[in-house]
Amino acid sequence: MPQLADFAAGLLAATPAAEAAATGNTGLRELFIQTAYLAASVLFILGLRGLTAPDKARHGMRLAAAGMLVAIIGTLVDYQIVTYIWIFIGLVIGSAIGAAISIWMPMTAVPQRTAISHAFGALAATLVGISHYDHIVRIKEELVTRDVMAALGFEVMFGALTITGSLMAFGKLQELLPSEPITYPYQNQTNVALFIAAVLMFGYLVIVPSDWGTHGTVFYLMVLVGLAVGVLIVIPIGGADMPVVISLLNSYAGLAASATGFALGNNVLIIAGALDGASGFILSILMSKAMNRSFANVLFGAFGTPVESEGGAGGTTGAAVRSVSVEDAAAQLAYANEVVVVPGYGMAVAQAQHQVEELAELIEKRGGEVKFAIHPVAGRMPGHMNVLLAEANVPYDKLLEMDEINDQFPRADVALVIGANDVVNPAARNDPSSPIHGMPILNADQAKSIIVLKRSMRPGFAGIENALFYDPKCALLFGDAKSSLTKLVAEIKTL
Ligand code: TAP
Repeated sequence: MPQLADFAAGLLAATPAAEAAATGNTGLRELFIQTAYLAASVLFILGLRGLTAPDKARHGMRLAAAGMLVAIIGTLVDYQIVTYIWIFIGLVIGSAIGAAISIWMPMTAVPQRTAISHAFGALAATLVGISHYDHIVRIKEELVTRDVMAALGFEVMFGALTITGSLMAFGKLQELLPSEPITYPYQNQTNVALFIAAVLMFGYLVIVPSDWGTHGTVFYLMVLVGLAVGVLIVIPIGGADMPVVISLLNSYAGLAASATGFALGNNVLIIAGALDGASGFILSILMSKAMNRSFANVLFGAFGTPVESEGGAGGTTGAAVRSVSVEDAAAQLAYANEVVVVPGYGMAVAQAQHQVEELAELIEKRGGEVKFAIHPVAGRMPGHMNVLLAEANVPYDKLLEMDEINDQFPRADVALVIGANDVVNPAARNDPSSPIHGMPILNADQAKSIIVLKRSMRPGFAGIENALFYDPKCALLFGDAKSSLTKLVAEIKTL
C-alpha cells in the first residue's frame, strides 16, 4: 500500500522527475508502468476478441476502453513528464470532444467520425515523430541512429499520408467534397511515382545519416510528399468504397503509432499500434472480399462513378415499376408465414430500426416468422446493420449472415427490403457489364414477393440502377422508411 501512495503522490507532483530522484523509487515506477502496459495490452486483445460476436461487442468495447484507461494511467506516472499542465488541458479538451461525439453524433455519421479520428491519431503520431527528430538532429545536433531513423521515417511518412487521406475520406463522407471519384490522366502513375519518391527519401534518411542541413531538408520534404500522397490517393476513390479506405487508413494510423512506440521505446504503443494495424488490414481485406473486389480495384479502380445499366440480363430498359399502398403491403405482411427483412443504408438514414423491430414483433405475434438478412457491406460501415438492430433489441439469433439466409429466400412469402439497394441488385449476378458484377448479394429476388421501402427511384451508393425494382414480383412503397414502417405497424394493428 505505501507504494500505491507513492504513485499517487507522483501523479500529483508538479515535477515528478525531481521527486523520483529524491525518493529513488524510479525502479518501482517503471515496474508499475510496464505492468499497466501489459494489463492494457491484454485488455485490448480481449476487447478485439469481444468484437468478433455481436452479443459480446459491447463488453469488448468496455474492455478496450478500460485498457486505454490503464494505459493512460501508466503513462501519467512516467518520471520523464516535466509538467502536467498541458496534459491536463489536453485531457479535458479531448474528453469533452469525446463525450459530445458519443452523445450527439448520429449513428449514420460514424464512418466520417472514424475518418476524422484517424486523421487526429495520425497527426499525433506525425507530430511526435517530427518533434523527436527535431530534438535529436537540430537541438542536440546529433546524428540519428539508423534504427531510430527507420522507426521515425515510417512514423512520419505513414502518419502524414494518413492525416490528409483521412481528411479527404471525411470530406467525401460528410459530402463536403464530391463523393464521385475525381480522376485525371496519368493519375495512378503520378500517385505511384510520388509514393516511390517518398520511399526513396525514406531510404536515403536511413542509409545516409548526416547533419541537420541536407538530412533535415529531405526529412521535411518526405513529410510534404506524404501529405500530398494522402490527398491524391483518396480523391479518385468513390464514396461507396470509403469504408474500405477508412479501415486501410486505420491500419496505416496503427502502423504509424507502432513505429512511434519503437522510436520512443514505448511498449504499449508498439502493441496497440500493431493490433490496430493488423485488424484494420484484415477488415479491409474482408470488406473487399464481400464486394468481390480486389484491393487494387478498390484503390485504383475509381469505382462509384454513376453509370446507367445498359439492359442485358439484369436490364431494365422499357420496364415499369409497381408501387404498392400501405394497406396492401400491410395485408401481405400480416398474413405471411415467413418474412425476411433486408435492412440497408436507408434504414440507418431514416433511423427506422425501432419501427422495424416493432413490425417484426407484430408479425410474429400474429404467427408469422421474421428473420433479418445481414449483408456484410450493407450500410456504410462494417457491422452497421448489426449495431442498429442490436440497439433496437432485435434478438441476435434473428440476424442471419448472407451465407446462412440466402438459401431461405425461396421459402419466404415476403422479402421486405428497407432502404437497401446495391446489396440486393441481381445485376451483380446477371449482368457482366455491371460495375458490381460478382459482388455476392442477398437473394431477395428469389422470395415469393418483394416489398421495397425507399423514397424515390434514385440509385444506391454504387450509382447504378437496380433490376430488382422492375421485377413483376416486386412492389415499391415510396416514402421515408421510418414513416412507412410506422404506417405499416398502425395498419397491421387494425387487421
Ligand atoms: P445503398 O445501395 O447505398 O442504398 C441505400 C438505399 O436507401 C437507396 O436506394 C436510397 O434510396 C434508400 N434510402 C436512403 N434514405 C432513405 C430513407 N430515409 N428512407 C428510405 N429509404 C432510404 O445501400 P446498401 O444496399 O446498404 O448498400 C451499401 C453500399 O455501400 C454498397 O454499394 C456497398 O458496396 C457500399 N459499401 C459498404 C461498405 C460497408 S462496410 N458497409 C463498404 C464499402 C462499400 P432513396 O434515395 O430513393 O430513398
